[in-house]
Amino acid sequence: MKNQTSKQLEINLGQRSYPILINPDGFDLAAIEPLWSGKKVLLVSNDVVAPLYAEAVIDALEGCDVKCCVLPDGEVHKNSTSWLAILDAMAAHGMTRTDLLVSLGGGVICDMTGFAAASWMRGIDFIQIPTTLLSQIDASVGGKTGINHAQGKNLIGAFHQPRAVIINTATLNTLPAREFAAGIGEAVKYGGINQAQFIDWLSTKQQAILEHSAVVLSELIAQCCAFKVQVVEQDEKEQGVRALLNLGHTFGHALETATNYQGYLHGEAVALGMVMAAELSYQLGYCDKQLRKTLENLLQGFGLPIKLDKEITADQLVRLMRLDKKVQSGKHRLILMKGLGQAFIETGVEESDLLNAIKACT
Ligand code: NAD
Ligand code: GLY
Repeated sequence: MKNQTSKQLEINLGQRSYPILINPDGFDLAAIEPLWSGKKVLLVSNDVVAPLYAEAVIDALEGCDVKCCVLPDGEVHKNSTSWLAILDAMAAHGMTRTDLLVSLGGGVICDMTGFAAASWMRGIDFIQIPTTLLSQIDASVGGKTGINHAQGKNLIGAFHQPRAVIINTATLNTLPAREFAAGIGEAVKYGGINQAQFIDWLSTKQQAILEHSAVVLSELIAQCCAFKVQVVEQDEKEQGVRALLNLGHTFGHALETATNYQGYLHGEAVALGMVMAAELSYQLGYCDKQLRKTLENLLQGFGLPIKLDKEITADQLVRLMRLDKKVQSGKHRLILMKGLGQAFIETGVEESDLLNAIKACT
C-alpha cells in the first residue's frame, strides 16, 4: 500500500493529459514505465542538483540508454546558451522524435528542458522531475516552457505539456531555506487569486510547513497543483482566466530583470509583486487597506520580502514593465484583487498608477 503522503492528480487536456505523482520519497518512474521504456533519454539537470539526485533517477530508469546534460546553475543561465547546450547533447545522443527528455531540477531546469523538448524536431516528449517547492507547485505543471532574453524574462518560449510530473518531496530536505520560502511565495499567490481559505490554511500550518512535515508538504503541493490544474484545464494557452496565475508577476519580472536575476529569487519577486498589486488595488479603489496587510503578515512569516529594499527606482521598474508580454497599446494589463481570493484582470492601468503603488512599497 502507498504511504498516506502519496498523492496522484491528473490534468485533463484531451490527448495532452498527464499524471502528477507526489511521493514522500523516491522517484516513482516505475508508475509511468511505458513513457520511457526502450527509449533514448537525456536527463537535464544542473551542477547543484545532478550530484544529489541524478544517480537515483538513472537507477529508476532501469534499462534505458540515458545520457546527462548538466548545466551551470542559476536563473542567469536560463538563456539561449543553455538551451543550445541541451539541443547539442540531444544531437550527440542521436535522439529522434520518439525519444525522451527528463528534467531534474527547479523551475529554471523545468522551463529550459520543456523548451528544448518543444523545439527538438518540432516537439518531443518530456517528463518533469521538479526538485524545488516552487517547481513542484507551479513551474512543472501547465506546459509553459521557455528561456529569458536580455530584454526580459521568459520572452522566448512555447506551450508544450510534459507527459508526466514526478514529485519526490524528500528532495526538499536539501533545498536551502531561502529557496524553500520562495516557493511559498507562489503558494500564497493561489490564495490571492481565488482560494481565500487556502491563506488561512497556510497561516495555520506555517510551523509544520517550515519544519517540512511530510504529510503537510504533500497536502500543500497537492492543493497547489489542484488549483493550477483547474485553471490550466479551462485555459491551456492563456487566452483568458490563466492570466490570473500571473498575480504579482508583472511587478515581479521587472524586479528580477532590474537586479539581473541576482537581487530577488523568482518566488521572492512574486511575493513583493503581490504586495505591490494589493497596494495598487487599494489605490485604485478596488479593495481596502487590510488586503495588503494580510498578505504582508503571511509572507513575512515565511521570511519573504514585503518592501522594495534594493537599489531600484520606481521609474526603472515601470520602464521594464513596458516590455512585459501583457502590455497592450501602451496600457498595462495587470492582475489586481477586489479582496482576498478575488483576483481579476485589469486592462488599461496607467504608468502613473504603477509609479504610485511602487513608491508606497518602499
Ligand atoms: P531554480 O530552478 O533556480 O532553483 C533554485 C535553486 O535551488 C537553484 O540553485 C537550484 O540548483 C537549487 N535546487 C533545486 N533543487 C534543489 C534541491 N532539491 N536541493 C538543493 N538545491 C536545489 O528556481 P525555482 O524557484 O525552482 O524556479 C524559478 C524559475 O521557474 C523561474 O525561472 C521562473 O520563471 C520559472 N517558473 C516557471 C513557471 C511555469 O509555469 N513554467 C512557473 C513559475 C516559475
Ligand atoms: N505560472 C504561470 C502559469 O503557469 O500560467
